[in-house]
Amino acid sequence: MTTRWTRIRTALAVFSIAAGALLLAPPLAVAQDADHEVTFEKDIAPILQRSCQNCHRPGAGAPMSLITYEDVRPWARSIKNRTGLRNKPEAMPPWYIEKDIGIQDFKNDPSLSDAEVEAIATWVDNGAPLGNPADMPPPLEFLAADQWSIGEPDLIISSPTVEVGASDPDWWGAIGETPTGLTEDRYVAAVEQKEVSEREPTTTAKRSTVGSNFAIHHMIWNAVNDDRISDEELERLREEDPAEFERRAAEAAGQGFWPVHEVGRNADHFDPRAGQLLKAGSRIAFTSAHLHSTGSHTKTRLDIAFKFHPRGYEPEYTNSALFAGTLNIDVRGNQADQAVVAYQTLPQNAKLSLFEPHLHAAGVRQCLDAIYPNGLSETLSCSGYNHSWVRAYVYQDHAAPLLPKGTILRITGYFDTTPANRNVADGRNWSGLGHRSIDQMMISLTQGMYLSEEQFAQELAERRETLDLDAGDYVLGCPLCGQFDEGTAAQDQQ
Ligand code: HEC
Repeated sequence: MTTRWTRIRTALAVFSIAAGALLLAPPLAVAQDADHEVTFEKDIAPILQRSCQNCHRPGAGAPMSLITYEDVRPWARSIKNRTGLRNKPEAMPPWYIEKDIGIQDFKNDPSLSDAEVEAIATWVDNGAPLGNPADMPPPLEFLAADQWSIGEPDLIISSPTVEVGASDPDWWGAIGETPTGLTEDRYVAAVEQKEVSEREPTTTAKRSTVGSNFAIHHMIWNAVNDDRISDEELERLREEDPAEFERRAAEAAGQGFWPVHEVGRNADHFDPRAGQLLKAGSRIAFTSAHLHSTGSHTKTRLDIAFKFHPRGYEPEYTNSALFAGTLNIDVRGNQADQAVVAYQTLPQNAKLSLFEPHLHAAGVRQCLDAIYPNGLSETLSCSGYNHSWVRAYVYQDHAAPLLPKGTILRITGYFDTTPANRNVADGRNWSGLGHRSIDQMMISLTQGMYLSEEQFAQELAERRETLDLDAGDYVLGCPLCGQFDEGTAAQDQQ
């Protein structure tokens, strides 16, 4: 008991040192001294370059360009409002991780620091001054529409093209398969998915419904090959031949878990040790599309870009979905702050690589907590949720939670059916589980890897070295990181 409390005390000390260090760190690109006037050229342009222009430039999907002063000036007040929302559903940039709780180290994090948000507010309140042209950073070069954030892809697969009428109802179903044309097995390091569509001009007002810029609301897809068993066949075996079912299910799982495409989805980078197998002769099966009218007749398809590991690469782990969710959802009409909770116990040691909340239109927030076998619990991540911008948050390698076997994961989804949630078309009625965006869902698409005892011990040893830990230190998301005796650690490092 004493040791446990000593550890917690040490933990708190470590946290406060870390927090102090963060506060002292100079905020990115913003010099906040009293004499300094916040100007567009010096302070605001660098923020827009880093966090906004990737989308807010001609031809890149966002409604207006935020490149030149002339582009930005008319939007100043709106920019202050949107950036001030932080993790709330309409925040800009669309990245909703809560900064006051949980792990903070994510890959490709475009979010703004408190100092940047404050600089934007000060700039707008002072009349949005231009400043000195000599301070303006050189313009950025952007990826062309046919380029990808994961770099030059090794393979691009297009789904069959589908058409959605100007006022069609939502539609769900399989839309077919595309052969990969691969003649050898390859391991995938990263995947990026993009909807590519042609829309006929419309005379009616643009839809203001969820995800209205896109016709593909989501697409579940999988890599199939003649050796890989279909989901239907697996279900049949489950009933008829449980032993064969176990064998084939394990084999299918060994071929990995592919991310679901969703509106607003960013790219996926798999753990470097868990490259995903794409087999020679495989096909991509687009098994569950959710199509949604944009308000104009649209022809659309999903392009999937794959970045491969070099030939000869062998994975150490298999990437899997680590969490399901709950089917029991009870959401009342016209009520904010409704929480729904689901639990799952980890059957093996695990490393979590990605946090991805999935709710529907009424969802506004989700938190992921870990309850450890020693009885302690902590929040790993919380984020706001906006059903028009379904984001996935990839932990940095040194921050990915390392969870011992028997850890209980708990997700809590928060729902708001009042008019304050603009994604909800009509929030008056009770609603429960369903496929439509106006029905509810409460799942976590969290990904990770199950690890053997040896692999887990190896990961812990590496983490101790990377973070330069002393025995008794506490690391959020890694309850065993600080549990070693100094003698062993010294040996590990030799
Ligand atoms: C990932 C793409 C993306 C990024 C990054 C992004 N935006 Fe946006 N932004 C959009 C899209 C798309 C919309 C319109 C839909 C919406 O409001 O969600 C939008 C809407 C806005 C609006 C509201 C416009 C209106 O019609 O009122 C403002 C203001 C804005 N963004 C500012 C910013 C700022 C400032 C940043 C950077 C700090 C930023 N955005 C980063 C894509 C993006």
